[in-house]
Amino acid sequence: MTKKKKNDKDKKKKQKLPEFNKYYYYENSVQSPESDVEFFENTYKKLRGKAATTLREDFCGTHMICCEWLKLAEDKKAIGVELDPEPIEYGRQVHEAKLNDDQLKRLSVLQENVLSKGLPKADIVSASNFSYFLFKKREDLKAYFANAKRGVNKDGIFIIDCFGGQQCMTPNEEETEHKGYSYFWDQDSFNPVTNEAMFYIHFKRKGEKKRKKCFVYDWRMWGLAELQDLLYEVGFNKVTVYWEGSDKDGEGNGIFKPTTKGDDAEAWVAYIVSEL
Ligand SMILES: C[S@@+](CC[C@H](N)C(=O)[O-])C[C@H]1O[C@@H](n2cnc3c(N)ncnc32)[C@H](O)[C@@H]1O
Repeated sequence: MTKKKKNDKDKKKKQKLPEFNKYYYYENSVQSPESDVEFFENTYKKLRGKAATTLREDFCGTHMICCEWLKLAEDKKAIGVELDPEPIEYGRQVHEAKLNDDQLKRLSVLQENVLSKGLPKADIVSASNFSYFLFKKREDLKAYFANAKRGVNKDGIFIIDCFGGQQCMTPNEEETEHKGYSYFWDQDSFNPVTNEAMFYIHFKRKGEKKRKKCFVYDWRMWGLAELQDLLYEVGFNKVTVYWEGSDKDGEGNGIFKPTTKGDDAEAWVAYIVSEL
């Protein structure tokens, strides 16, 4: 009995957690590339009556969405655009490693600014996880939207997501428990005069202390109405908001439909699809 206990203890000691990598925990907590590419594929098909071939993922980080896109069909191509070499390298080691040679040939990841002129064109240009919120001035966001429009093929579309609701206008911290760790979405501050907000992501693995501020977002909370105005201003001909439906508990059900009227959910996520 005593001996068995000692062995169990020894085993526990030996079960060391793998080295912490913030991208692994980020992706596991917030990303759902399968649903993203499903929405992109279905929306384009509905609007254009054919499948899209090329996806350009702006602010692509670890280019997980690009990699998922390539798996949909043998003619799909993906281009990722990202400034920071660190997430690009993580994506190379982790996601590209799972692609076959043919899929790899159809992927290019550019270490570039999304504002750069001459970025490759695509059937779908996307900016996910609210990345464009980092542009705080109207003229800067307008310049980005104009550049995205330049990158859209003749039949192409530009897809961005957006989030909002009263919950985003008061400081709060939300903990989500996952197997072996907790993810914290920390809204540190909100300034109603400028709509600027500071968010942090923290993680805590079981048995370890909280790792604070693994990701820092110094953002402006853009509203759907002003975003639609800007997208029309840069020359898109049709801009549509896709609002998420609710399940029986009032939670988002992951199904987004075009609408001109949302509900006053405490926190909501929507897509905006812009057509040439
Ligand atoms: C909020 S993260 C989103 C990452 C990924 N798209 C996702 O869905 O989780 C924003 C990313 O945009 C990158 N970024 C910031 N400014 C950029 C710019 N001007 N051009 C290209 N990438 C940029 C950052 O390095 C970061 O990886």
